[in-house]
Amino acid sequence: MADRTPLMAANWKLHKTVAEAEAYLAKFLPGVPEDGVEVVVCPPFTALAACVEGCAATQVRIAAQNMHEAESGAFTGEVSAPMLSEIGVEAVVLGHSERRTYFGELDEALALKVPAALRAGLLPILCVGETGDEREHEQTEKVLRRQIELGLIEVDDDQLAEVVIAYEPIWAIGTGRTAAPEQAQEAVAFIRELLAERYPDEAGDVRILYGGSVKPDNATELMAQADIDGALVGGASLDPEDFAAIVAAAT
Ligand code: PGA
Repeated sequence: MADRTPLMAANWKLHKTVAEAEAYLAKFLPGVPEDGVEVVVCPPFTALAACVEGCAATQVRIAAQNMHEAESGAFTGEVSAPMLSEIGVEAVVLGHSERRTYFGELDEALALKVPAALRAGLLPILCVGETGDEREHEQTEKVLRRQIELGLIEVDDDQLAEVVIAYEPIWAIGTGRTAAPEQAQEAVAFIRELLAERYPDEAGDVRILYGGSVKPDNATELMAQADIDGALVGGASLDPEDFAAIVAAAT
């Protein structure tokens, strides 16, 4: 089996001022393992620079929660990939279901955002996942196929290992209703099969995370699944002790 370093990401969403972010890092950083796991923190835009600085002497990498596909232009309110990498941001979450649901993020835009992130040297974390309704109507595989195919349409074989996929069933996000470990494994394994159809040699190297109500008490079981290579954590990542416990589950 490919040797994939687990990646544990804290998605703070619309939480934490600069002062709160600094207080969090002061508690969280001393306990971060030095190797065996990659840790990524995704603060709001305003706290990115402070977090880059705060984590500079550590292994922790900082990610934005969104970006625009253009490098620059008349796009009021947007931020580009080169602007993020200029300040030391190293990764970006793309296509989170909250962006898809509340802000009209489309697969067509993600098809451009993923290569734009790669061009700027950012690690894209592409989120995919079905709604509860789609799962009930047995549409999960169809939805995942569309999201993966379009999101990666411009990604070449030699770039694939620099992309991270996060499987986040929408019915499990912020609901306290985690996917059962076997259910999560099944969907993640399906995503790996989809990748293998187009990238037979590289699919085994891609890290696929699970996200959706990951907590300290369910992280170990989720991380034990063969194809799950880490977690994208929302609510539980807001508490430095809880996120540290979740990170520890990957080591
Ligand atoms: P949650 O969020 O852990 O609060 O369910 C996960 C996410 O949205 O990435």
